[in-house]
Order: sequence, then C-alpha cells, then structure tokens
Amino acid sequence: MTKIAVLVGSLRKESFSRKIAENVMELFPDPFETEIIPIGDLPLYNQDFDDDGNPPHQWTTFREKIKEFDAVLFVTPEYNRSVPGVLKNAIDIGSRPKVDSVWNDKPAAIISNSPRNLSGFGANHHLRQSLVFFNMPIVQQPEAYLANVATLLDDNGKINNNDTVQFLQSVVDAFVDLITTFKANERN
Ligand code: FNR
Repeated sequence: MTKIAVLVGSLRKESFSRKIAENVMELFPDPFETEIIPIGDLPLYNQDFDDDGNPPHQWTTFREKIKEFDAVLFVTPEYNRSVPGVLKNAIDIGSRPKVDSVWNDKPAAIISNSPRNLSGFGANHHLRQSLVFFNMPIVQQPEAYLANVATLLDDNGKINNNDTVQFLQSVVDAFVDLITTFKANERN
C-alpha cells in the first residue's frame, strides 16, 4: 500500500479546494490510499517551543502522522497571491526540527485553484519554492491550475464535466508514476 497525505489550504466549510481534493482522491488506483490531514488546529509556529524541546502536542501528532505517509498532495487556493497562512503554518511545523523534517524525500503534487481566472498560480509557485527546499520531488507536468473552480462543481461538490476529470486523472497518473519511480529507485 502507498499512502498519500492530502493537505488542503483552506478551512472554509464550503471550500472549493476541499471539494476538488475529495474528487481527486477518488482518482487514485489501488494500492494507493489517500487521507486528508487536518491542519486547522495546529498552533502557530514558534521556534521557542522546538528550541526548548517542548512542542505543542498538536505539532507532535501532526509530525508523527505525516511520517506515516509516502507522498503528499497539496490542494490550495491563493491568498493575496501566495500560500494561505494555514497551509504555510503546517508546512513550517512539519519542516522542523530541520534534521527531522517530515517532508524530506516525499514526492509531492500541487493543485491550485481559484473562483476566478487566476487559478492560484502565485500560491502554486510559492508553495513549490518551499517544497524544493524540502527536497521533495514534485510533479512538473501537467501543471495543475484550476480557474473558475465554482463552475466545475455541481451542487453535491462533484466535478460536473469529463474534461476536468480527465485532466485531473492525468495529474494523478503523473503523480503515481513519480511515486512509483521514486520508491523503486530508493530500493536499488
Ligand atoms: C482571497 N482570494 C484570492 N483569490 C485569488 O485568486 N487570488 C488571491 O490572491 C486571493 N486572495 C485572497 C485573500 C484572502 C485573505 C481571502 C479570504 C481570499 C479569494 C479566494 O480564492 C476564494 O475565497 C476561494 O474561495 C478560497 O478557496 P476555498 O476556501 O474555496 O478553498
């Protein structure tokens, strides 16, 4: 089994990002398993807690949880042309202590979206910048930017057109290939 952690960059009840994530999770083949990891209860990162060896229990639980996974899928909106604070806080928490970063060597994919035309390009690439630093191999192509995301979803939160499903399937396929190749190389 290959386990994929899904991090959603929005806490909003009706988040389009979460709905897209839930649709994408259904596109992974066996033996891939996906799980959304909650990030809304993580106290804001403060280096003092790590320096004192006394991190909040939510940080420790989050770090231990992410370590169980083989790869990470990020689905995020853009806030002010960048990564929403809640997601940046989660990746900062996972990145420390630096020698024990939970992100190191985990393959990743990013899907950004927006209700209008921008499609979260800024968030997508700012997030990518951090993942490069974390040494995460990232799906390069296809790049996944979803514009006008509200028009892609029906009233039940399901993607309402085959073109988008096929596009997202191609993203998942590329991610599955990346993870499979990466794991095979690790064994050799
Ligand atoms: C936004 N929004 C937004 N949209 C965008 O395309 N580019 C941006 O820079 C921003 N900036 C931004 C900042 C803040 C603080 C908020 C609250 C919102 C709009 C955003 O895309 C919209 O609210 C989405 O619906 C948020 O994603 P979820 O919650 O639907 O996943």
